[in-house]
Amino acid sequence: MRNFLITGGAGFIGSNYVTFLLEHYPDCRVVVYDKLTYAGNLNNLLAHKNDTRYAFVKGDICDSAAVRETLVAHQIDTIVNFAAETHVDRSLSDAGSFVNTDVYGTFVLLEAARELKLERYHQISTDEVYGEILTGSSNEEYPIQTRSPYSASKAGADLMVLAYFTSFGLPVTITRGSNNIGPYQYPEKVVPLFITNAIDDKPLPIYGDGLQMRDYQYVGDHCEGIDLVLRQGELGQVYNLGTGSETRNIDMANLILDLLGKPKTLLQYITDRPGHDRRYALDVRKINALGWHSRHDFAAALEATVRWYRENEWWWREIKSGAYYQAYYHTHYSGREVAAPNPAH
Ligand code: NAD
Ligand code: DAU
Repeated sequence: MRNFLITGGAGFIGSNYVTFLLEHYPDCRVVVYDKLTYAGNLNNLLAHKNDTRYAFVKGDICDSAAVRETLVAHQIDTIVNFAAETHVDRSLSDAGSFVNTDVYGTFVLLEAARELKLERYHQISTDEVYGEILTGSSNEEYPIQTRSPYSASKAGADLMVLAYFTSFGLPVTITRGSNNIGPYQYPEKVVPLFITNAIDDKPLPIYGDGLQMRDYQYVGDHCEGIDLVLRQGELGQVYNLGTGSETRNIDMANLILDLLGKPKTLLQYITDRPGHDRRYALDVRKINALGWHSRHDFAAALEATVRWYRENEWWWREIKSGAYYQAYYHTHYSGREVAAPNPAH
């Protein structure tokens, strides 16, 4: 594994992973293949612009001719697929784009990897494929019980990846990560949205009662876990990646306000997300046994993330001030305000 195609490498986790590869593997070559949807941003990769080991190709993973051409032209031996439509709320209003990219796009990459006999295909998946976990935790054998169009699409992709292993012997691995936070996350996802709203003294929109739980992990830790699975994971296997502990959304929101010295009056309850998964909780013993543990606990991950957004206003202000973002925010959030649930948290 030396010549990497990083699909979706201009997005949040993908761009952090590109940086990880270039910093840790002096001999590697990295080609980012990305459609540059609203979530793709070449500012995430600015640091590598002049690195001769790095190249950018604008392309869609659903375009099989362009995928093949890129794989051949750059002598790619390994695909790591981050490309996806990723926001659960958007999957409720535009499920079709999720099926196209997350399911069909994955198939296109698998088929190209099979035909060109690539050394490795790695799929970036999510803890959401296990559905909501009201008690206990989900290990890698836990049933797929998806509930949103996003998670259903990601699960479809995972099953196709495993089918290519079983049917064609394609050397695949899958990692299922929990919620990532850190630099370059598009400010529609809850943590960067709350941080940037709080910096500007704008309300933090809390869905429902705010008692939903997520395992927020630092993106750099996630990248280390992916790297370990690529080097030491067993082919055909799935590995969960997360801290193994969960935080309530309301506690995350309060901590952001504390870190920024902002008042609790910024908390604004709004109507809930339809079909909102109450809790995700990963059993991470399989990846722990390979030697990976999350370096940051939730508090450390959040603190580092808040610091980055404070120090990099140039990055998110360009996005948030744009007409596309403003229209999304208005359509998605206006008129949803409700009273705080009782008793107060
Ligand atoms: P993101 O939304 O920030 O970035 C997605 C990237 O994919 C963008 O650069 C976009 O331009 C690109 N893309 C979208 N459709 C494409 C297409 N058809 N062809 C080529 N490129 C396309 O996403 P992210 O949060 O970095 O997530 C990356 C991957 O990790 C996704 O597969 C996601 O399901 C998974 N994941 C995310 C999280 C999380 O907390 N963010 C957690 C677990 C797993
Ligand atoms: O669990 C991994 C998944 O995490 C990834 O696969 C997805 O790509 C990623 O988007 C994320 O999904 P979530 O739905 O968990 O993330 P989101 O940031 O949208 O929401 C996190 C929690 O915060 C969830 O309980 C909903 C809540 N929320 C979200 C938004 C956007 C709010 O309370 N208010 C908001 O405005």
